Amino acid sequence: MTKATVRELINLKGARVFLRADLNVPQDDNGNITDQTRITASLNTLRYLLDKGARVIMASHLGRPKGRDEKYTLKPVFERIQELLPDVKMFFANDVLGKDVKAQISRLKDGQMLLLENVRFYKEEEENNLEFAKKLSEYADYYVNDAFGAAHRAHASTEGITRYLPAVAGFLMETEVKILGEAIRSPQRPLTVIIGGKKIADKASVISGLLGVADNILIGGGMSYTFAKSQGGEIGNSIVNENLLDYAKEVMATSKSKGTNLVLPIDSVVADKFGPDAHTNIVPTNKIPNGWEGFDIGPKTIEEFKKIIKKSKTVIWSGPMGVFEFDIFANGTREVAKVIVESEAVSIIGGGDSASAVVKFGFADKVTHISTGGSASLEMIEGKKLPGIEAILGIEAKIK
Ligand code: 3PG
Repeated sequence: MTKATVRELINLKGARVFLRADLNVPQDDNGNITDQTRITASLNTLRYLLDKGARVIMASHLGRPKGRDEKYTLKPVFERIQELLPDVKMFFANDVLGKDVKAQISRLKDGQMLLLENVRFYKEEEENNLEFAKKLSEYADYYVNDAFGAAHRAHASTEGITRYLPAVAGFLMETEVKILGEAIRSPQRPLTVIIGGKKIADKASVISGLLGVADNILIGGGMSYTFAKSQGGEIGNSIVNENLLDYAKEVMATSKSKGTNLVLPIDSVVADKFGPDAHTNIVPTNKIPNGWEGFDIGPKTIEEFKKIIKKSKTVIWSGPMGVFEFDIFANGTREVAKVIVESEAVSIIGGGDSASAVVKFGFADKVTHISTGGSASLEMIEGKKLPGIEAILGIEAKIK
């Protein structure tokens, strides 16, 4: 790692440190945290700073709120951190800006922490508004970025703020960059990337960028129906992004010329409604009847994916194969996870949902690395420079 880390901050006693973490955890409809991986992964750096006597102002985004929206409050995350670090005195700020927040910061003592409310309650965060970034920077003497999962975003609290404060990486950021960096510099081949989930718009440029880089790309999950439709398939009521049909067609065509084997599901588990008690059936993915919707990859697809995964030396997986939260649609995700951990391949799991799946099925300690970043890890594999990482000072920087 050529970047400065928290170890370079030698005068931490009494120093105010702005710690940007990625505490964007999945929650159920009642706001209960369903997977705390990102929280526990962020505690090392926090603990280190507090043990050194720093006064930590911690910040994160949660979800994609449009302005202030209590559904996306970081309060439950704060309560979880409190449970995990019961000996630390910590406080929650109900806002990101304002005189009350400033007063709370001024009351912090050495070894104490204040968690700010969701930075995305201000649209200026995602706009990378420099006035907003400057206001955040005024809270602290140093900036630590441990938010690997958001490193592909040039936002005020991941990039803008580094223009005003000495910026170093936290331990989680350091580990992610090291492990993923090694995987890209000289991946053991065949390199297979499995991409799922329904956020095709988010992953479109990553899939294009991986053509010619990965030997195999296996597509599953909600996004596969857009690909199926782009090839003339009938997908019934399955989720589709009509705006990306041309893109999907283009990707399929380009994959051949770039030498990447891009594989789509052959069959799907379909259901007559979304829910754990739906009636299900297995049909070819390009012949889903009207009134039925695809929620998982089918058995033939699982076999095909397994064959490819077994022959791979490196497997990178981001995004579930189906709605694995319901048992009736969990088979594809479970079987893919199982064959990955049983294979000899170096395995990197990227992203909240696939990481949750691996934890849920009990395979977490059997994979090489679970990354806290979904799109961030894929963009790194693709060879892109991530703004959040680029903005961190080089190891040679003199930090006072
Ligand atoms: C993620 O979940 O991938 C990160 O927290 C980034 O979230 P975002 O895609 O909403 O920017």
